[in-house]
Formats: sequence, structure tokens, C-alpha cells
Amino acid sequence: VPEIGCLSIIVLGASGDLAKKKTFPALFHLYCQGFLPPNEVHIFGYARTKISDDELRNRIRGYLVSDRSASPSKDVSKFLQLIKYVSGSYDAAEGFQMLDKEISKHETSKNSLEGSSRRLFYLALPPSVYPSVCRMIRRYCMNKSNLGGWTRIVVEKPFGRDLGSAEELSSQIGELFDEPQIYRIDHYLGKELVQNLLVLRFANRFFLPLWNRDNIDNVQIVFREDFGTEGRGGYFDEYGIIRDIIQNHLLQVLCLVAMEKPVSLKPERIRDEKVKVLQSVLPIKDEEVVLGQYEGYRDDPTVPDHSNTPTFATVILRIHNERWEGVPFILKAGKALNSRKAEIRVQFKDVPGRNEFVIRLQPSEAMYMKLMVKQPGLEMSTVQSELDLSYRQRYQGVTIPEAYERLILDTIRGDQQHFVRRDELKAAWEIFTPLLHRIDNGEMKPIPYQAGSRGPAEADELLEKAGYIQTHGY
Ligand code: BG6
Repeated sequence: VPEIGCLSIIVLGASGDLAKKKTFPALFHLYCQGFLPPNEVHIFGYARTKISDDELRNRIRGYLVSDRSASPSKDVSKFLQLIKYVSGSYDAAEGFQMLDKEISKHETSKNSLEGSSRRLFYLALPPSVYPSVCRMIRRYCMNKSNLGGWTRIVVEKPFGRDLGSAEELSSQIGELFDEPQIYRIDHYLGKELVQNLLVLRFANRFFLPLWNRDNIDNVQIVFREDFGTEGRGGYFDEYGIIRDIIQNHLLQVLCLVAMEKPVSLKPERIRDEKVKVLQSVLPIKDEEVVLGQYEGYRDDPTVPDHSNTPTFATVILRIHNERWEGVPFILKAGKALNSRKAEIRVQFKDVPGRNEFVIRLQPSEAMYMKLMVKQPGLEMSTVQSELDLSYRQRYQGVTIPEAYERLILDTIRGDQQHFVRRDELKAAWEIFTPLLHRIDNGEMKPIPYQAGSRGPAEADELLEKAGYIQTHGY
């Protein structure tokens, strides 16, 4: 049953990078597709800077582009008219009281159609202010309608720096909001081919009997970017590639690749299975880690001269359960490499040729299977070829939604399947915290690599040792 009544979306940190580049454009896409009907929805921007509604609108206008709108410029103007701006600090009552007043004003004006009030707070803010902002929302801005409705908050990583700090943050927020009200975004869970993983695995006879240690030799989950930390050096240096990409995005993908079939498709049952995978990961061994830092990274004035922060890492995880015992899961991520790509490579055991199944998350979504065929022609020889499902060709004319667009729609609909649950987050930190502490203490050092290269050669050696065989390019 669709909920009726008015929906207020409040973007805190409205003039920051995340809001401008991701949150508002995603809201705009949803608006263009009719998911945010103007007679129900109002959007509020909140930040410290004292600017007018129009100034905020002008700041975000340039980021609003839609290929799904018949008259984009008209839609941009109409969308911007839904946005109001309120300024205030992140830890004082005044701004939040004002915000509540504005939201309530809009709710009474729209509530001629009887309905509930729904308040979605999107924290496009650094985690250091999450506790105070949550406290302020809790105290001053909760939905007060007696006709029902809800208040939800959306937060983004980094959720802490290690197990201890993440748990502290979780319990501070947990004292103010219940788990069903908290949406922890990992935007990789909003990507088309990540969302496809469970269907692929559990709705295809091809995969069901093969997806285990008897048939799979190794699994590689790779993230590469062909640019460095440009402009984000200060932020990045605090965290490094493991906290930025591996502990969250790649680990989430690993969960979906490795988890058992859930007892039902209810979000909680799916998340239960993901937690079990994380809890089955064995402690990481130093000799199964290669760290790298690209040359030139420290030239960024916001990066300390002696930074020990890795911009590249290859880490092997081992899952201690019946299905995966002995199968290395190779997680690899790096900045300033030779290409931009995110993919999952599943290598099957030799027969004697090597079959490989590749799921390319981006760019150009695709799934392809490398297999051996007879070389066409009179001779009897074998050659490697591909069964290829490239989305662009197969689904011409279908626009694949942006991850943020999908995830924000889920928060409005109240579907938590593609969000990280508190126990999942804890289990993810448990895996990486000992390694991160060793890096932070300088006990493990990154190997320099050339920007634009494949990363340190030692990483390729580690892969080879784990059983990965480089197949012919495709
Ligand atoms: C973010 C990281 O979470 O993901 C960035 O903080 C990274 O460092 C980005 O560039 C990559 O996202 P995508 O969707 O472009 O693969």
C-alpha cells in the first residue's frame, strides 16, 4: 500500500560535495521519474553557511542533469522550487528548532489530504558530527503526526576508523534511533550488477551446483581507479584504501558472492546470511597482504610528507566454512592505476583449460564466461572464447539507475535490504582492525608504485601464489 501524506527530505550538509554531486542529483532523477510528487514532497537543505534559498538552488543547479526527462531545463526549475534552505549549526538547538518549524509548516499546508508525515534526514556530513546531529533531530525534529508516519536517518561511511570507534559511534546513534530507522549507505549495494548477484546465484541451475570449493579455485574482487586522490588527499590520508574501499565496498560484494541461500527474501534474512559470512572470515595473515602507495601521492600539500597510508592493497581473505574452505578470496583495490574498473572474477578449477566467470560492475556492466571451444575451421584445436552478456547491447534503451537514486528510493519505501546492519558493520571491522592497527603503527609499509601502472609487482606475485591465472585478455 503506498503511503500517503507528506514527505520531507532534509539534506544536512546541503552545500557540501556529497550533497551536490550525489544526493541532490539522485533526488532530481527520482523527481523526473515521478517518485517525488510535488504535491506531497518538500526538500530542505540545512547547513551552517548563511545563504538564501536561491543561492543554494544556484549552487546545485549545475549538477542536475537528467537523460530521463523530456524537458530537462523545465524539470530542473520545477525541482529546484521544491527546495528550501535553513541555516544553523550542527550542535545547537536554534537551527533545528527553525528546521522543525519549516517542516511542520509545509506539513500542515500539504496535509489537506489526510495522511502521515514522513521525515527523511540525509546526513551528507562528516561522521564526527553524526552524534550531535542525531541528538538534535531526536530532540527537535521528529515526526509528531498522530496520523502515523516515520522519521529515518541516512548516514554514509566512514562509520568509524576501527572496531572500537565504530562501535562507539553505533551505540551513540543507537541510543537515539532504532535500527529500522537507520540507513547506513554503502553505495556499491546500489549498483545494478551487485543487486543482480543473488538472482544470478540462486535462480540459475548453472551456478547452484558449481558455486563451492569443489569447483572454484579462487575468487578475485577488484576495484581500480585511474586517478589519484585529487583534492581529497587530506580526507584520504586519514583513512587509506582499506577503509575507503575494501572494508566496505569490496567486502559487501564478497558477502553476496559467498553467502548461503537465505531462508526467505526478507531483508533481515538476507542480512543474517551476510553477517554469517563475515563471522566466518579467518584472521588475515601478514604474508597475504601487499600494500602500495603511488609515487607522487605525498606531493599533495594536504598529505603529510612521511605518510604511511596505502593507496593500493591486495588482501586475501579465507572463509572458514564447508562451502569455501581453501578458496582464497582476493580483494584488490587501488588508486592511480592503469584503468578504471570494478569486477568480480571467479576462476574454476582446471579441466585442463581454465574457465573464468567475470562480472564487470563498471564501467559497461557485463557478465561473461571464458570457456574453451574448438577453433572454428578444419583443424581440431582448442581456443579460449567467451559467452558474453554485455548490458549495453542486450538492454539497449534501458537506463541503469544510479546507485544513490536506487538507495534513496529504498529509504523512502522502508526497504533495508541494501543497507548495512549494525552487526554487519561490526563484523566487517573485526576482520580488518588488527591489520589496520599494524599499518597505523608503521609495522607494515606500503611499497611505492608508479602512478598509471598495475600497482606493485609483489601483488601479482601474491595472486599467482594464491592460484590465480591470468587468462587471455578480453
Ligand atoms: C567512494 C570512495 O566510496 O567510492 C572513493 O570514497 C571512490 O574514494 C568511490 O572513488 C568510487 O565509487 P564508484 O561508484 O565510482 O566506483
